[in-house]
Amino acid sequence: MATDLKKEAQDILNDNFQAGGYTIPCKGLYPFQWKWDSGFIALGFAHYDMEKAKAEMKTLLDAQWSNGFIPHIVFHQKSDSYFPGPDFHQAELHPLSNKQYPSTGMTQPPVLGFTLEKMYKIAKDKTDVLHFIKENIGRVYDNHNYFYKNRDPKNEGLVYIYHNWESGTDNSPLWDDIWETMNPPEYTFERRDTTHVDASQRPSKREYDHYLHIIDIAKEHNYDDAKIAELSPFLVQDPLFNAMLIKSNEALIDLYKIIGGNEDKVAQLEQWQAKSMASFNEKLYDNELGAYIHYDLRNERPIQFVSSSSFSPLFAGIPTKEQAATIIKTMMDKFGGDDMYLCASFDPTHERFNPKKYWRGPVWINLNWMLYYGLLDYGYDDIAARVKSDSIELLSKVGFYEYFNPMKAAYEVEQKGYGGGNFSWSAALYLDLINN
Ligand code: GLC
Repeated sequence: MATDLKKEAQDILNDNFQAGGYTIPCKGLYPFQWKWDSGFIALGFAHYDMEKAKAEMKTLLDAQWSNGFIPHIVFHQKSDSYFPGPDFHQAELHPLSNKQYPSTGMTQPPVLGFTLEKMYKIAKDKTDVLHFIKENIGRVYDNHNYFYKNRDPKNEGLVYIYHNWESGTDNSPLWDDIWETMNPPEYTFERRDTTHVDASQRPSKREYDHYLHIIDIAKEHNYDDAKIAELSPFLVQDPLFNAMLIKSNEALIDLYKIIGGNEDKVAQLEQWQAKSMASFNEKLYDNELGAYIHYDLRNERPIQFVSSSSFSPLFAGIPTKEQAATIIKTMMDKFGGDDMYLCASFDPTHERFNPKKYWRGPVWINLNWMLYYGLLDYGYDDIAARVKSDSIELLSKVGFYEYFNPMKAAYEVEQKGYGGGNFSWSAALYLDLINN
């Protein structure tokens, strides 16, 4: 069984890999290159085809802007199966955008630093991969520099996201109260996602109006970061996003030390790191909930909900031992019952929880993957083992879907996964999990 699944996972990745040297997340639904998907996908390839892993990283980095920004989608080829495409985003409005690669003008979690480090750890031929890292690490550093220079207006060491799509957790209930503060126009457009996936599993039309409106505001100001910080109705400090940045800072420091030299960069990274870690534990830790939370910078209020993002700081070594014990207890109390697979994407005890709807409840393999490594790092081997076996059980039961119903009882009624099938990061991270 396991061997077949391994072959199936490799077949999915090979099949989704495109002639242009990048991998689509899934056919039909997502026909381009996505930033954080690419990082996870590279890790899957690293286990059996390092050349593809390198190509994946390189293609994404080639689309970097001259200010260090890396876009969330690179539209390598035309496709009418996706909305909103390059004509809506118009990233070329930004004076420093990369005119060679049509893209969006927003980003996604900074996974590339730790992806490079993992590739190095996985590699059998370390010299070859180190050579690749030497050639590319500067571009990842520039990306971090972009974040600290442009996304931290109060100099707190915590960077903001200005769009829910930047979080990676697109339609999480976390954003519902922000939508309440906005009143976007009714857009007329043709959704394409709902031609691939049942509408009940995707965001609503009204949610899309909000998503498009934020982009329109950014476009009015040619995607200028300072203007976005001043005017975007969505401005959030996200613990998942910031944990990825911190994890990647650490990875860059480690890699620069292996490479040698670059003392100025290491010193800068260490400075960012110290500040970010301290602010993170001070501002994004909620004592009452016993979990990390998001902060709404536009409306100056904490977003007090527990989601799978609340536990992602474990992956970046951010919590103290005591904080780790508390958040893991919160996770097990709310998300970890025997009737559930770990780890739902949103608090299953909350009325906004929906086990079938995208980021409003389903299990996602990338978050489980982070949780697995985070739990191991803090010595919670048994819970880590459960996260791993729950993930593998879901993938074996229904296949390499995009997301999964966390309620065990649901599988007595029907054995099915949700969202897109043959989903690249589910396949890639499975390959990593079974190799650990
Ligand atoms: C969805 C997910 C996002 C992912 C993208 C491509 O939009 O919410 O996190 O990057 O699909 O897979």
